[in-house]
Parts: sequence; structure tokens; C-alpha cells
Amino acid sequence: MTRTIYVNGQYVAESEAKLSVFDRGFLFADGIYEVSAVIDGRLIDNDLHLARLERSLGEISIPMPMTKPEIVEVQTQLMIRNELREGVVYLQVTRGTAERDFGFPAGLRPTFVAFTQEKNLRNAPSVINGVAVDIVPDIRWGRRDIKSTMLLAQVLAKSSAKRKGFHEAWLAEDGYVTEGASSTAFILDKNNVLITRPNSQSVLPGCTRHAILQIAEEQGLGIEERLFTVEEAFEAREAFLTSASSLITPVIRISDRTIGNGKPGPVTTHLQTLYLDLARTSSEPVL
Ligand code: PDD
Repeated sequence: MTRTIYVNGQYVAESEAKLSVFDRGFLFADGIYEVSAVIDGRLIDNDLHLARLERSLGEISIPMPMTKPEIVEVQTQLMIRNELREGVVYLQVTRGTAERDFGFPAGLRPTFVAFTQEKNLRNAPSVINGVAVDIVPDIRWGRRDIKSTMLLAQVLAKSSAKRKGFHEAWLAEDGYVTEGASSTAFILDKNNVLITRPNSQSVLPGCTRHAILQIAEEQGLGIEERLFTVEEAFEAREAFLTSASSLITPVIRISDRTIGNGKPGPVTTHLQTLYLDLARTSSEPVL
């Protein structure tokens, strides 16, 4: 089956999808993206993703390409046409097409592209067995709260980690962990307090992070939203990362340091179960 892609108002076969060379997304990474998980034919945390899309676009003065319900309709159509029951729906909005010039003209029509990716999320070996992450210097810009398509720092960090056999890079700055290259970082200290960095311009406000903190609070788990050092991460009782495409993934090694007993910890696996239960009931199935 050939994949159907959404491009500027049209549903087309993957091989027919075309964009201008002068699209500012291509020339300047002048655009925003979002990734929503699909489990059991349902979009997960999608309201949060669309709210963040709107905010990111607003921060760089790109208008929403259409209303949020219209975007949901595009996501739904793609899921139906591509028979997606588990995986992700990717959205990208760029400033549009114009002669190459750093300053952008007023009134450009945003480019809007969306596609699906089939992925084993729940039963991925990484989610079940846990992963190793490497500590990599954070060399990104100062507005990491904006979900920009300008991802070269993350591409290089993840590729370097992958080459060394790690699954993900945890980015570090001034001795503190900021976040994963494409995920939020959590640790659990020896008193079972869940620690993650507070939202600010230094990190992407994760949608999965938001859902997990709500669940942890309901469970009466101690929570501290604060900076934590690489050393603290090495000493953690448990650690995990979260994102739309990796859900809650246990971290069992950081660089050369084993976390806990080198297996997914009980708090992490409990949160995984609760998150999946919530995901299964919090939205209507599309198919
Ligand atoms: N990445 N931090 C960064 C830098 C990210 O790129 C992501 C998500 C997250 C987690 O956000 P959320 O829980 O809303 O997915 C945190 C996506 C999945 C990606 O780039 O593919």
C-alpha cells in the first residue's frame, strides 16, 4: 500500500507529494512541527500537541494554517487512508514559499504537510527492556520551548550517541541535564521523588511529560520540578524518558553508569501501565 500524504490541501500518494525548493522550511528551517502518538487507532494527548503547535507558531509569527478541528480532520483522514492503528502522525507548518531572503515578506501562505508513520510503540523492545542514554553537550539555541524544525544539534547528538551504541542522548549544559535530544528526562531519587526540569525557554514543554506529572501526582508520588545534575542522574534509583514516539521508556544506563539494578524500575513500569490505561480511555478511536 502506498502511503497517502497531506500537502497544502491535497491528499496525494507519497511519490506525488511535492514542495517548492524555495519553501522557507527547506531553505531556513523556518517552521514548526508536531508529533502525536496513535495507539489502538486513537490520537494520544492530541489537544496538548495542537495547543503547543499553535503556541510555537505564534512565537515565530506564523499563522495557524487552519483551525484546530480542521487539523484533527486531516490527522483523522490520514489515519483512515493509511489504516494507522499504532504509530505517529507528523505535522509540519512552514512560513511558506518566497524568494530566498532572511527577512520574510508579510502575508505568506504557510505550507502545511502531514504524514503518518507506522511504529510499534507499546511493544517496542526499548519500551519493554529499557535503553542506555549518553550524555552529550547541549549546543542548541536559546528558544528550545519552540518546536522548531531546526534540529541539526539534535540530529548530531543522537547520531553520535547511536554510533556508540546508545539509544538516546541526554543533553547537558553547565553540569545539568536539560532534556533528551527528542524526549523529556526524568529521574527518581533514593527517596522515590520524581525529578524533572521545570518548563522554561531551555526545554520543550513535553506533552507526555504533562500527562505523566498529572498521573504521578494522582498517585501521591513526590514530585520536584527542578534542575538536576548529571551526577544526580548517575545516582538515580530509576530513570526514564518520555515522548510521543517513545511513550515512557525506562533508562537503565547513563553513559557507563548502570541505573538501579540495570532493569526497568517498579515506579517506571507502574507509570507506563497507568499512562497506557489513560491513553486507551482518554480519546475516541478513529478506526
Ligand atoms: N520529540 N524534548 C524534545 C527536545 C523533543 O523533541 C520532544 C519530542 C520531547 C517530548 O515531547 P512530547 O512528549 O510532547 O512528544 C521533549 C518528538 C517526538 C520528535 O522530535 O520526534
